[in-house]
Amino acid sequence: MIKVLFVCLGNICRSPMAEFVMKDLVKKQGLEQEFYIESAATSSEEIGNGMHQGTIAKLEQMQIPYGNKTARQIAKADYEKFDYILGMENRNVQNIVRIIGQDREAKVCRLLDFSKHPRDIADPWYTENFDVTYTDILEGCQAFLEFVKKEMK
Ligand code: 4NP
Repeated sequence: MIKVLFVCLGNICRSPMAEFVMKDLVKKQGLEQEFYIESAATSSEEIGNGMHQGTIAKLEQMQIPYGNKTARQIAKADYEKFDYILGMENRNVQNIVRIIGQDREAKVCRLLDFSKHPRDIADPWYTENFDVTYTDILEGCQAFLEFVKKEMK
């Protein structure tokens, strides 16, 4: 079982979108049983709140199923629970390390570090562009899945 935690600042826009995009990708490839996938925030700002309407609208447009996700904050104990802890941008990675302590097992990086063009995923809370968020997240999740599939062999 490969355990993946997607992380952004608020856990209402980017990381829950990544959670449901990734769940959809693994399901479509018949790998549902091989993965445990969740998402969390670095900040406490949105704890308990549901996903942003922009994220919900994009998931619905792309016909990606989603559950009743509410925001939670990453905790130090998550470091032992997950194999991969994937931030959306450098600032997330810095805050993840601040919360979990040292990244001794190199579990923490950005989602798009797995793509051919490593980069941050802009925050749609500010950009209001959930289309770009989605294409970036899909690119990252596809690249990450290909990486993991090679590791599984
Ligand atoms: P997210 O977006 O990190 O992609 O979930 C944000 C959500 C909420 C806030 C900032 C970014 N906020 O400041 O409350």
